[in-house]
Amino acid sequence: MDKTRINWGEFAKKTPKERLHFLENLNLSEDSLTTLKLQKMLSLDIANQMVENVIARQALPFSVVPDVLVDGTVYRVPFVTEEPSVVAAASFANKIIKRSGGFKTYQEKRQMIGQVALYEVGDKEQATRAILDKKKKILDLANSAYPSIVKRGGGACDLTVEEKGDFLIVYLFIDTKEAMGANMVNTMMEALVPTLKELSNGKALMAILSNYATHSLVTSTCQIPLRCLSRHPEEALVFAQKITLASQLAQVDPYRASTHNKGIFNGIDAVVLATGNDWRAIEAAGHTYASHKGNYQGLSSWRYNSSTKTIDGTITLPMPIATKGGSIGLNPSTRLAHDLLGNPQAKILAAITTSIGLAQNFAALKALTGTGIQAGHMKLQAKSLALLAGAKESQVTSLVKELLKQPTMNLSLAKQLLKDKH
Ligand code: HMG
Repeated sequence: MDKTRINWGEFAKKTPKERLHFLENLNLSEDSLTTLKLQKMLSLDIANQMVENVIARQALPFSVVPDVLVDGTVYRVPFVTEEPSVVAAASFANKIIKRSGGFKTYQEKRQMIGQVALYEVGDKEQATRAILDKKKKILDLANSAYPSIVKRGGGACDLTVEEKGDFLIVYLFIDTKEAMGANMVNTMMEALVPTLKELSNGKALMAILSNYATHSLVTSTCQIPLRCLSRHPEEALVFAQKITLASQLAQVDPYRASTHNKGIFNGIDAVVLATGNDWRAIEAAGHTYASHKGNYQGLSSWRYNSSTKTIDGTITLPMPIATKGGSIGLNPSTRLAHDLLGNPQAKILAAITTSIGLAQNFAALKALTGTGIQAGHMKLQAKSLALLAGAKESQVTSLVKELLKQPTMNLSLAKQLLKDKH
């Protein structure tokens, strides 16, 4: 959380070493500063505690997106991604959205869902009644299987029973507090199997967490004034109208919706990965939710609002992201990620991550409906070639312009142009 008034303006233009020096002035923990200074990321020993058959560690770039304004607080958000332009796009969008008043988010609750699938149940109606009559006993049984979450103020809070095809399915709703809670939920579900078999007079096929976390939905919205889209009012209006159309396209065409949502997950996955969370779970939840109206659709929507002269964005998706559990506390770079964010609680982290998805989508749609996606990519490539060729700060802009005029770009051409023209 960025409580101090720190000027991140030149952050992107610094070298990694200069960025580390800049971060020393933030109120990060000693642990984070040591991790940064010594670049002491995941050790082989810890990696070996996390998964099986370990022989090495895979490294990915770890970046920071500053200026993320969510519900009145500015965050610096850690991104882990291998894809060029994702961090630049997120920085670009968040700068505009911050100037527009930031994101406002809404979450009704944060609960995980577990299920026990029963089959060969003779009388499903009778079995449903028998299970619902014993609801309190079943909830107590689930909580006694995992008492530590009850001590923390969470635990199983409700259950429902539904008939689907040949199955009778019992769904349990659990407040997992700061954890994503897969182990917790699975332990509870397995503990319920004997009782549910007895009450239903049927067999149990499986007992497992559902990744379709519809009780952890997060909505994030933002309202961007036209003047933030372009200095020229007519151009800004065209942008707003085209972004609205792009959002409609993702509602009617699954081929577009898939790419639209991939762009949203460019940002979400980068935060989920940096914070040590299960990105497969969050992707699975998001893509399933994208089909909740019957066909696969874009997760976000944008609408030009002619009365406020703004383009209004909104996104809703399940965001069962955690701040505790799994390998979150084990991996030094994950601890650094949480520290950079100001160690927010899970609900706040969910609000930030969802907002990042909307920002990433805004940047992609603005590029797609404007100059096209390649222009930004080529500009970034030219910038990195200019820096690699050894251009000084004062030379970068003109060298980038020269490179962009060439039919193809490479490092030797960048070096040649730097030598000839600067
Ligand atoms: P631009 O307007 O040419 O950028 O956009 P600029 O050089 O004028 O800089 C504007 C701001 O962008 C900067 O402000 C930074 O905040 C940020 P400044 O600091 O100059 O005051 N920025 C950077 N931040 C960090 N490092 C950098 C950097 N460069 C700019 N090197 C930009 C250029 C790439 C931002 C823009 O073209 C863009 O947003 N493009 C979208 C890129 C994108 O979405 N990439 C994801 C990969 S493509 C994909 O997988 C998804 C997709 O298919 C999804 C979909 O179809 O919906 C597209």
